[in-house]
Amino acid sequence: MAQKPIFVTQPYMPPLAEFLPYLEEIWQNRVLTNGGPFHQQLEQALADYLGVKHIALFANGTLALVTALQALRINGEVITTPYSFVATAHSLLWNGIKPVFVDIDPVSLNLDPAKIEAAITPQTTAIMPVHCYGRPCDVDAIQKIADNYNLRVIYDAAHAFGVKDEQGSILSHGDLSVLSFHATKVFNTFEGGAIVCPDAKTKQRIDHLKNFGFVDETTVVAAGINGKMSEVNAAFGLLQLKHIDAALGRRKEIDTVYRRELTSVRGITCLESVAGVQPNHAYFPVLVSANYPLTRDQLYARFRERNVMVRRYFYPLISDFPMYRGLPSAQRSNLAVAAGAADRVLCLPIYPDMSDADQQRVIDIIREPFSEEPAPAQAADAVL
Ligand SMILES: Cc1ncc(COP(=O)(O)O)c(C=O)c1O
Repeated sequence: MAQKPIFVTQPYMPPLAEFLPYLEEIWQNRVLTNGGPFHQQLEQALADYLGVKHIALFANGTLALVTALQALRINGEVITTPYSFVATAHSLLWNGIKPVFVDIDPVSLNLDPAKIEAAITPQTTAIMPVHCYGRPCDVDAIQKIADNYNLRVIYDAAHAFGVKDEQGSILSHGDLSVLSFHATKVFNTFEGGAIVCPDAKTKQRIDHLKNFGFVDETTVVAAGINGKMSEVNAAFGLLQLKHIDAALGRRKEIDTVYRRELTSVRGITCLESVAGVQPNHAYFPVLVSANYPLTRDQLYARFRERNVMVRRYFYPLISDFPMYRGLPSAQRSNLAVAAGAADRVLCLPIYPDMSDADQQRVIDIIREPFSEEPAPAQAADAVL
């Protein structure tokens, strides 16, 4: 009989009984959206929890990315990474912006600052890096380039909820940072997202843009969109916040066990922890190299046979999808490090409700091929 499936992630859900009072309040006051009380409370609570100045909530992270670009009036070309979820580059296309892909750093797997300058043209207006897996980009090097060339920086921080570096929240870098609260993320509101911004004026522009451009009943200042988060999602977010530290704590335990059990496995590389960074353990990527007994895809297939739904994040590269592959910057020769990572990576299951037994099942599958290897040949002189 097939064993029960283990997914790469499972959304954290607080006890249902704790959510009912929030729903009762919504049913009573009949405010369902348009910046209602839960929406306002969640913006404040998140700004406090994350240690950032301003937050504008959104219906999802993709709308937040699209709006962040609108808020700063970005156009022309934007430098970004091919090693991410498609929404990063899609947000550029939705704004009529040309993505320019730059290769990633082999250690951080984030945009390589040393390769950015060569990709800047007179049309470049901004850089959109991604804190991939919640591991911080080289924010200082990126800011230096942006300052030198007068470029804006919008971080796709969809994976980086709660991550801190020595200067505080990772979300305070650049001009704007965008979060996703999708069901698969560390902090979820079913669907949801947010833009983190440093000043009240920018937040006001973002708030107008996410509400069709309305400033008041009769004034529309921009061709805005409907990007608002509903009261049900915001209420759920408030409840999630009460549980987030416990959820992050359990993720850390799972991360520690994977590292302990997998570091000595030949051909499996865990990404190094980053010094001075408080991580969120959003993902557990490993790189499968040639000296592992199976290829990455054979190991992936074996996991699937055993009903363990590991994922190849991020394969294929964004630059390999049909709407991008014709761009000069999408050539694989320009993106050798990203291509190598995409061919070797597997993200292992990690989520707060994962049991120790399920984690052991994952570890055993990785170790299994070694017990199937033929025993080494006896030394020839032993039989002479
Ligand atoms: C890096 C990255 N950017 C953007 C998004 C889009 O966020 P959402 O699903 O909330 O629209 C996601 C995830 O879904 C993501 O992983």
